[in-house]
Amino acid sequence: MIRKSLKIFITRAFRFLNIFNIVKLRREVDVLYSMLYNLTHDLDSSLDLTSIQTKEAFGFQWRNLKEGDYLLSDPWFKANVSKILFEEEIQIKPEWFKGKDVLDIGCGNGRWSYGFAKLGANITAVDINQIAIDETEKAISDFKVGKNFYLSPVESLSKNLPAKKYDLVFCWGVIHHCKSFNKSLKELLKFVKKDGILYLYLYGRDSLDYNTDVDLFKSRIMYNVLPTKEDKYKFLLKKARGNKDKVHNFHDIYSPLINRRLEYKYVKDFLKSEGFEDIVRTIDHTELFIRAIKGNAKDYYKKYILPKKKAPYWFEHH
Ligand SMILES: C[S@@+](CC[C@H](N)C(=O)[O-])C[C@H]1O[C@@H](n2cnc3c(N)ncnc32)[C@H](O)[C@@H]1O
Repeated sequence: MIRKSLKIFITRAFRFLNIFNIVKLRREVDVLYSMLYNLTHDLDSSLDLTSIQTKEAFGFQWRNLKEGDYLLSDPWFKANVSKILFEEEIQIKPEWFKGKDVLDIGCGNGRWSYGFAKLGANITAVDINQIAIDETEKAISDFKVGKNFYLSPVESLSKNLPAKKYDLVFCWGVIHHCKSFNKSLKELLKFVKKDGILYLYLYGRDSLDYNTDVDLFKSRIMYNVLPTKEDKYKFLLKKARGNKDKVHNFHDIYSPLINRRLEYKYVKDFLKSEGFEDIVRTIDHTELFIRAIKGNAKDYYKKYILPKKKAPYWFEHH
């Protein structure tokens, strides 16, 4: 009897200790993930490996998942992209764009370059992936506007592009994936003309709480260690609840390991310190849609600036 009770006691004690260990282990894993997270999200220095991973992630995307909602393969998006650009994103009248020089940094497969070319702007498109440049070139081939393409990381634009300044520097969804956010931003600001426009879309800190963000980071690690292309597609398709048109968008969420979330104040102060004025959030959202003017050109822009558009926004259409 005593032996039996002792056995039960020992088994329970082990079970308890085991649970204790698992909890401890889980905490350690969490700490480890947070460390990794902080390392890759540090503003000025992060692992080189992560920048290579960003390039590879998007190279894979443009080779294998180039179609989907809100891309040029989406007829609704293609028909409306110019309107989306001038009416919702930049909020500048369409006539302003005709003959202007636009620098599209991190052009992807060319959906925005297409929209600008349709408005009559000259396009200079840059990306870190050659496949993105090739796709953009194809996307705008029918437009009779000026076209230039450069393969370059945003961090070293000055080394790879001629020293020319642009009426609009546009960078949508790129530098929050870059190894160094500060360096990338500083670099692209150099290309805005005096009185020119800067437009950025960035992940906003307020869209996700820190815990959800860390959990997402763990899922990204899980996604990235899946052994085959098919496993990865299955993972994304499951996240997209079987909707093939949304797989591309889920790839954006799960594949790149660097996904910084920015405070508006941080970006605004940065832009101010670099000589930008009239800094506004064009779309009312927790994500950051930012337009800024280099220098004080308020009077010039008075006749071009459009009022804010109310929700629902284009990305809420499907
Ligand atoms: C989320 S996609 C956005 C593409 C495009 N702006 C759009 O909205 O459709 C990010 C793009 O930035 C490019 N990219 C990522 N890191 C980059 C870097 N360091 N320098 C230049 N381009 C980069 C990727 O190859 C990819 O095409």
